[in-house]
Amino acid sequence: MTLSKYLCLPLIINQSDNEESMWKSIAAAAPDAIFGLTEAFKQDTNPNKVNLGAGVYKDDQGITPILESVKKAERLLLEEEQTKSYLPISGDPLYTSCVQRLLFGEHSAVINSGRAVTAHAPGGTGALRIGGELIQKFIPGATIWISSPTWANHHGIFGAAGFKLKSYPYYNRDTKGLNYDEFLATLAEVPAGDVVLLHGCCHNPTGVDLEPDQWKEVAALAADKGWIGFLDFAYQGFGDSVDQDRSSVNAFAAAGPDFFVASSFSKNFGLYNERTGAITVISSSAQEAAVAQSHLDLTVRVCYSNPPAHGGLIVKTVLSNPELEQNWRRELEGMCRRIISMRSALVEGLASRGVDQDFSYIRQQRGMFSFSGLADDTVAWLKEHKGIYVVGGGRINVAGLTTSNIDYVCDSIAEALQS
Ligand code: LMR
Repeated sequence: MTLSKYLCLPLIINQSDNEESMWKSIAAAAPDAIFGLTEAFKQDTNPNKVNLGAGVYKDDQGITPILESVKKAERLLLEEEQTKSYLPISGDPLYTSCVQRLLFGEHSAVINSGRAVTAHAPGGTGALRIGGELIQKFIPGATIWISSPTWANHHGIFGAAGFKLKSYPYYNRDTKGLNYDEFLATLAEVPAGDVVLLHGCCHNPTGVDLEPDQWKEVAALAADKGWIGFLDFAYQGFGDSVDQDRSSVNAFAAAGPDFFVASSFSKNFGLYNERTGAITVISSSAQEAAVAQSHLDLTVRVCYSNPPAHGGLIVKTVLSNPELEQNWRRELEGMCRRIISMRSALVEGLASRGVDQDFSYIRQQRGMFSFSGLADDTVAWLKEHKGIYVVGGGRINVAGLTTSNIDYVCDSIAEALQS
């Protein structure tokens, strides 16, 4: 007789057929339009594969680097950090004031008047959702107007927050530029109390932005019609510069209505997995801002209680130290220069292969992405036959191009278009 006979073995219960799990009749969700591609890319065994999907910066070695300024800040933190206790619900006040300085600039009237309040949110996505939750609480059933086309996650975030969704025209597929007249005409019809979601700079996916005077016109329209602007501002510094890219924010601040800004340090600090962003609510006075802050805190408290600390600690360490901030700004400029040089390499590479289509508009687009003009069947062909991953609709992450893969990518696109 063996000892095992006397051991208490777990009773294995077989679920009987008539007991159904809640999932039995539920169909699986489709993979995410952007991160689903990253997963498919990882499984691909093609040795030449290239991921031009998710908006993640890569250097010319194809690596997503940790910035030197970030590493320096982390070294300081390792020595100086005293506790892992909770942050305040809205985050560290020094972090939120650094966020505001980046958004509005030095000596900003918005900051000095106390019109803006900010909460540290888990990434730009968290910031959008918290802003959405907050608006829904006080304007239940509001419609949010979303750019056509837009970032694949916008509809999901605001649909989940309870908004009705409508689109406004933005991009002209014939001119590959802004459809400004129709865009403005649609915004002129948006009812008071609705929300208009705008890309603060580096429009995702098109890379086509408004000029500063156009932003002023849009902000004036918001003030006149009484709709609320919500700026998704995830790419500050990838357009012209940290300071020039804030013309959208400045225009809304000057026009005076309530507005919201969701900002992120995923891209410009490379803090993708630290989920470091912020939601900023701008109202017309310090008194109103204090009310907004109280409800912002309540919203955060019921969603995630208080923010994760590490990314915010890095950002505030860099931005409160002039030398580190200069270091960071130089690194950000370097990332932009590399993206711009890969835009040219792509345009020239396709032209030199005799591709008929004129791709020169790719040079004018701003930010990380190029709305390449590649049709969905070409995108599918590139994935299947060449292991080149592009987001549906033809969005290319230009930062995924390197001097090592550019020839392969140009050869492959040329083959797809010429066959
Ligand atoms: C993108 O647009 O690829 C990035 O913002 C990553 C994401 O969250 O979708």
